[in-house]
Amino acid sequence: MSKTFVVTGTDTGIGKTVFSAALVQALDAHYWKPVQSGLEEETDSELVARLAGAEPVRILPEAWKLKTPASPHLAAQIDGVEIDPLALVPPQLERPLVIEGAGGLLVPLTRRITYADVFARWQLPTILCARTALGTINHTLLSLEAMRVRRIPVLGVVFIGDEVRDSQAIISELGMVRVLGRLPKLDRLDTETLRQAFSAHFDMDDFVGEKA
Ligand SMILES: Nc1ncnc2c1ncn2[C@@H]1O[C@H](COP(=O)(O)OP(=O)(O)OP(=O)(O)O)[C@@H](O)[C@H]1O
Ligand SMILES: [Mg+2]
Repeated sequence: MSKTFVVTGTDTGIGKTVFSAALVQALDAHYWKPVQSGLEEETDSELVARLAGAEPVRILPEAWKLKTPASPHLAAQIDGVEIDPLALVPPQLERPLVIEGAGGLLVPLTRRITYADVFARWQLPTILCARTALGTINHTLLSLEAMRVRRIPVLGVVFIGDEVRDSQAIISELGMVRVLGRLPKLDRLDTETLRQAFSAHFDMDDFVGEKA
């Protein structure tokens, strides 16, 4: 059976989709964004398709596409629909699958259920994306605590941004977590620069080998 990874983050807008695109490209994987809030700008699925060079067939359709760019629980309410978190079930596929949540772990899908509840039910290797910029130590350690309390399997942390050696080290030490790598901010972001950055900064064995 092919491997499925969950990509979450410490916050919204930190680079989860860009990292997911890199992983999709490296693993020749499928991508699934179960709940997309906001359809005016390029959606996460469209960004992954553009950056990973993924054929449309490898981008799975969203389970809920919500018009309002807000937390899914509110976007759904405004759109007049209700998200059923139990209906979110990762499909079994021939190739690996990368699933991206929305925002951070405790983003509500309904007024009662957060993404973290869904990740806990899934029990899939979960990657926490974190900035390297100021504020990241607290956000990342809090997110790791939230994952551990709920017994969400933590594959490791991925940093996004310029190298900040001490922040990265202290997160790894205090958070007792493996650092899978760091995706630098790319001045030109396209399929080729992303492919090169992933291969220079990550070890495929962390995603396909014994360690994964
Ligand atoms: N490694 C990077 N190099 C250059 N630009 C980046 C990188 N990562 C993210 N960005 C920029 O930041 C924007 C936001 O990143 P991204 O969409 O990946 O965030 P996100 O965490 O997935 O947000 P959301 O919570 O909305 O899903 C991207 O559109 C891109 O312009
Ligand atoms: Mg995203």
